[in-house]
Amino acid sequence: MNVHKIAVIAGDGIGPEVINEGVKVLKEVAAIAGDFSFQFTYFPWGCEYYLEHGKMLPDDGLEQLMKFDAVYLGAVGYPGVPDHISLRELLLKIRKGFDQYVNVRPVKLLQGAPCPLKDVTRDQIDMVVIRENSEGEYSGAGDWLFKGKPEEVVLQTGVFSRKGTERIIRYAYELARKTGRTLTSISKANALNYSMVFWDQVFEEIGQEYSEVETNSYLVDAASMYFVKQPERFQIVVTSNLFGDIITDLGAAIAGGMGLAAGANLNPERIYPSMFEPIHGSAPDIAHQGIANPLAAIWSASQILDFFGHEVWGAKVLDVIEQAMVDKKMLTPDMGGAASTEEVGDEVVKILSALQTNQV
Ligand code: NAD
Ligand code: IPM
Ligand code: MN
Repeated sequence: MNVHKIAVIAGDGIGPEVINEGVKVLKEVAAIAGDFSFQFTYFPWGCEYYLEHGKMLPDDGLEQLMKFDAVYLGAVGYPGVPDHISLRELLLKIRKGFDQYVNVRPVKLLQGAPCPLKDVTRDQIDMVVIRENSEGEYSGAGDWLFKGKPEEVVLQTGVFSRKGTERIIRYAYELARKTGRTLTSISKANALNYSMVFWDQVFEEIGQEYSEVETNSYLVDAASMYFVKQPERFQIVVTSNLFGDIITDLGAAIAGGMGLAAGANLNPERIYPSMFEPIHGSAPDIAHQGIANPLAAIWSASQILDFFGHEVWGAKVLDVIEQAMVDKKMLTPDMGGAASTEEVGDEVVKILSALQTNQV
C-alpha cells in the first residue's frame, strides 16, 4: 500500500476550519480507492504558537517537515502578531526553504460557482496562473536608512536571478506545450526598467525553444483589465511573485471568490516536500463562526491527489465540488448560500461515497 505522509499545518483563523474538511475528503478518497492511504501529522505552528513560544515554528521546523511527502497548510496570520513576522517566518519560510519555486493557481469557473461578471460563460474563465514563488519582489532584501529622520529612505529590492527567472518561465512553456494551450507572460517593463526588462527578455529567449507555443505578453495593469473584461484571453499565465499574488486574488474574484481558489507550491524536482493550500488568508472577520468556505481547501486536496499521481481522483473531487454546488446547493454565505463549513465538507464526502456505491 502506498502511504502518503502529509504534514498538516492548519494555522490560524479559518485555517483549521477549512483544513478539517479537506482532510475528511482525502481520507474518504483513500478509503474508496483502496490502493493508497494518507498519514496525517499535525503541527500546531502559527500565531498562537508564536504568542507562547516567541517563534512561529521551532528552530528545526523545516527539518521536521523534510520527513513528509507534502505539507497541507490552512492559513497563517492573525491580529496580535505583525503580518510581516507571521508570514515571512512560516509560510514564506517554507516556500523559500523548500525551493517551492512554482506556484500553480488555477482560475477556473466551476459549474455552480457565482461569477460577478455579466454574460460570461464557463469556458471563458479557464486558466492556470504559474506564479514565480521563490524570489522577485519577495526576496526580502532591502534596507531602512535614517529611521525616523527627515531623510528616511526605505529600499525593498526585487531580485530576479537568471536561474530563477528561466526555470519558472521554462516550467510554464513546458506546461503550455504539453497541454496545447497559449502562454501569456504578465510583466511591467515600461516602468520597472531592470527586473521586468530582464523578465521579458528571458520570456523571449526561452520562447525560441518552443516555437509551437502561441504566446502573448501583457503589462500587468492591462492584464488586470482583461481579466475582468475578456478573461478568455488567458490560458496558461506566467508572472512574477508579486504580480502573481495580486492577479490570483483577482482571478479568485471572477471565479467564485476567495473561498474557492486553490494553490500548489511545487518543488518540481521533488528534492523537498511541496505544499498545498487555499490561497486565501485566515479571514479573521469570519473566523470561529463555522461559515468559512472549505472548497478552496478541498480543491487544494485535489491538487495533492494530482501531485501523487492520482489524477483520476483529483478530477473526481473537482466534479464532486461542482455537484455539491449545483445539485445540493451547498454554498457558504460568501457564495450567497447558508451552508456551514462542515455541511459543505460532509456533503462532498457523501457524494464521494455514493459514487463508490454506484460503481459497485
Ligand atoms: P483573507 O483572504 O483572509 O480575507 C479576505 C476576505 O475574503 C475576507 O472578507 C474574508 O472573510 C474572505 N474570505 C477569505 N477566505 C474565505 C473563505 N474560505 N470563505 C469565506 N470567505 C473567505 O485576506 P486578508 O483579510 O487580507 O488577510 C487576513 C490574514 O491572513 C492576514 O494576516 C494576512 O496576512 C493573512 N494571509 C495569509 C495567507 C496564507 O496563509 N496563505 C494568504 C493571504 C492572507
Ligand atoms: C498568498 C498570500 C501570501 C503571498 C502572503 C500571506 C505572504 O497572499 O499566498 O497569496 O503574498 O504570497
Ligand atoms: Mn495572496
